Amino acid sequence: MRTLFEETRISGLRVRNRFIRAAVTDRTYDGYISDDIIKDYAKLAESGVGAIITGMTLVDGEEKILPVVALCSDSFVSGHWKLTEAVHKHDTRIIAQLAYIGSYTAVGNNGGLVAIAPSSVPNLVTGTPAREMRLGEIKLIQKKFADAAKYAQKAGYDGVEIHAAHGLLMSQFLTPHYNRRTDEYGGSIENRTRMLLETHHVMRGATGYDFPIWVKVNCTDGIEDGITDDDFRYVCRALTAIGVDAIEISGNWTPHAFKSGAYFKDAAETAASENNIPFILTGGNRKLSEMMEILNGTKISFFGIARPFSRETDIIERFRREFDDSFTIRPAYAI
Ligand SMILES: Cc1cc2nc3c(=O)[nH]c(=O)nc-3n(C[C@H](O)[C@H](O)[C@H](O)COP(=O)(O)O)c2cc1C
Repeated sequence: MRTLFEETRISGLRVRNRFIRAAVTDRTYDGYISDDIIKDYAKLAESGVGAIITGMTLVDGEEKILPVVALCSDSFVSGHWKLTEAVHKHDTRIIAQLAYIGSYTAVGNNGGLVAIAPSSVPNLVTGTPAREMRLGEIKLIQKKFADAAKYAQKAGYDGVEIHAAHGLLMSQFLTPHYNRRTDEYGGSIENRTRMLLETHHVMRGATGYDFPIWVKVNCTDGIEDGITDDDFRYVCRALTAIGVDAIEISGNWTPHAFKSGAYFKDAAETAASENNIPFILTGGNRKLSEMMEILNGTKISFFGIARPFSRETDIIERFRREFDDSFTIRPAYAI
């Protein structure tokens, strides 16, 4: 029987348990890591979680007008180094989530920044208009992901995660609603996946194969002309084939805000059964009993948890107490 609290490995990294803090955006007004952010992460690491995925971290300085942490030049590395050092002190792994936001932003007029996207389709959530990317811009964004991965390596991160979920730029390439291109980056799912696969390829070129690269993807976009089940399964197979180190399964999670229960379990179970790499299931993980059942009844091996940490920093300790009490599980954790 596999257990949630056993020490194990994910993409070669030793972790003390199977719980992962899923990404939660950190606010900062100049892109730099603040002392408060470092304190928050140290507290999280101390709480006993196996690994932390940082909040989305900008790969492109032009998006720095948004109040989000960045890692887009050498000047950002020392702040991130302090952050990784604070987390490592507590025997916790830390993965930098790298992102290009694009039209998924509604900050005023974006400081005059025109959002770029696979096609000129306004964002469904924010209403922000977008301009279709030129081929040169596609290659430029890929290079920015590669540069950011290199900076992350320099800053002591244990790996990086490409944020290709939740309607951000990478996710938009996968989604028919946002990707209406007629060139090699649009149309078939093979073409729509090309941006993500090429980005992974250039990142590998920058970091080498010993530095883990994880990818977070949607199993559903929650829109009619979003990614299909078959598309999603194709993306997972393609990512596995090119050698990504782990896949985190997410989706349109906002309608599930007040529910409990792992709402993307079925899709993640199918994908995990088809691919021999670590799968992280994120969204609605609140009950130890359910996670134990998933762990032993499927090939999903890790559990991402986001919102509960904001309410209960020591949730892992509470899980441990409940686990030690011979599975006396509290009622579903709902927020
Ligand atoms: C305030 C907040 C900020 C978030 N920021 C990010 C982010 O930066 N990157 C990301 O991939 N997901 C982000 N998420 C989504 C979470 O990682 C996770 O997928 C979602 O909250 C579902 O998990 P949960 O039910 O455990 O909260 C955010 C969620 C919240 C509530």
